[in-house]
Amino acid sequence: MSNVPALIGDSETMARLRMRIARVAPTPLPVLLVGETGTGKEVAARAVHNLSGRAGPFVAVDCGALSQSLVESELFGHVRGAFTGANHRREGLIRAAAGGTFFLDEIGELPMDTQTRLLRVLEQGTYRLVGGEGEQRSDIRVVAATWRNLRERVSEGLFRKDLYHRLSIVELSLPPLRERADDAEQLMEHFLSEECQRAGRRPLGLEPDVRRHFRRWPWPGNVRELRNAAAYLAAMTLGGRVRFEDLPNSLRRIVPDAPEHEPGVGVQIRIDLPYMDARRDWLDQFQIQYVSALLAAHDGNVSAAARAAGMDRRSIQRILSRVRQIPS
Ligand SMILES: Nc1ncnc2c1ncn2[C@@H]1O[C@H](COP(=O)(O)OP(=O)(O)OP(=O)(O)O)[C@@H](O)[C@H]1O
Ligand SMILES: [Mg+2]
Repeated sequence: MSNVPALIGDSETMARLRMRIARVAPTPLPVLLVGETGTGKEVAARAVHNLSGRAGPFVAVDCGALSQSLVESELFGHVRGAFTGANHRREGLIRAAAGGTFFLDEIGELPMDTQTRLLRVLEQGTYRLVGGEGEQRSDIRVVAATWRNLRERVSEGLFRKDLYHRLSIVELSLPPLRERADDAEQLMEHFLSEECQRAGRRPLGLEPDVRRHFRRWPWPGNVRELRNAAAYLAAMTLGGRVRFEDLPNSLRRIVPDAPEHEPGVGVQIRIDLPYMDARRDWLDQFQIQYVSALLAAHDGNVSAAARAAGMDRRSIQRILSRVRQIPS
């Protein structure tokens, strides 16, 4: 479905997510978006709003950025004299979002008292200004997001169970990028071409080893990290194609292919040998694993591998000749 153009990614999980967004958007139900940092929770929240048919604005509030004393009056407003310094009545963000979508980002950080007020909004469609008496009617659609595990917050006594149940009627999860290699490739192409255009340069191609690297990279910062990498590459790449050595340092790690190459696994310390021999044995194993993984990442191209690792070709070949002597 392509009616949510902002949310890129043709993987099955993303296609399913777009479909669920399109289904829930026109309903009045609250939506809870969960996912790691940078996975696109805010993009998804805007998509819900864009497809909701609601005429009012999209108003976002970062619950984690507001101090405990300010959060209630920011959200719900206050009457004159509600607290020291409240010299006149002030409407809250909930009012600004009337007829539209109220996006409560980092909702896991919301203080318990404020959670109670929010529950009232969801259950009765009303709220009170801080210090006020009269009930105000709210006409908002609530979308909330968090990277936290709210169920865990509930069991720790930090999040109201009833609010959690109310919010999570429709819970949509944004999968981490490391679980969708096709999307990583597609997003990189998209952002790279966008960034090249912005920089006024011809679109950059990707060398095959770089393309493979992007598919396997764990992207701990998810799409945000990928987008930053694209901006870096558009600015810094010298040739017409991105080579492994063009990557920023933070991305120039070899990603192990097979489970037996997991860091620390497979390299055994021989305490049955004297220290110097054990050390030599351990280093040998390290060199062999490093060079094997390095070469695998470069399609067996020794020159490319040597360049990327800052090693001498001959050192690589020397280590390789040892691998070939090891009986399998
Ligand atoms: N599927 C996607 N298609 C296009 N752009 C995306 C997608 N997912 C994320 N992005 C982009 O990645 C960046 C991070 O996305 P967003 O701000 O929505 O993440 P988030 O989940 O809200 O992260 P955080 O928890 O850190 O606030 C933004 O620049 C956003 O435009
Ligand atoms: Mg966000």
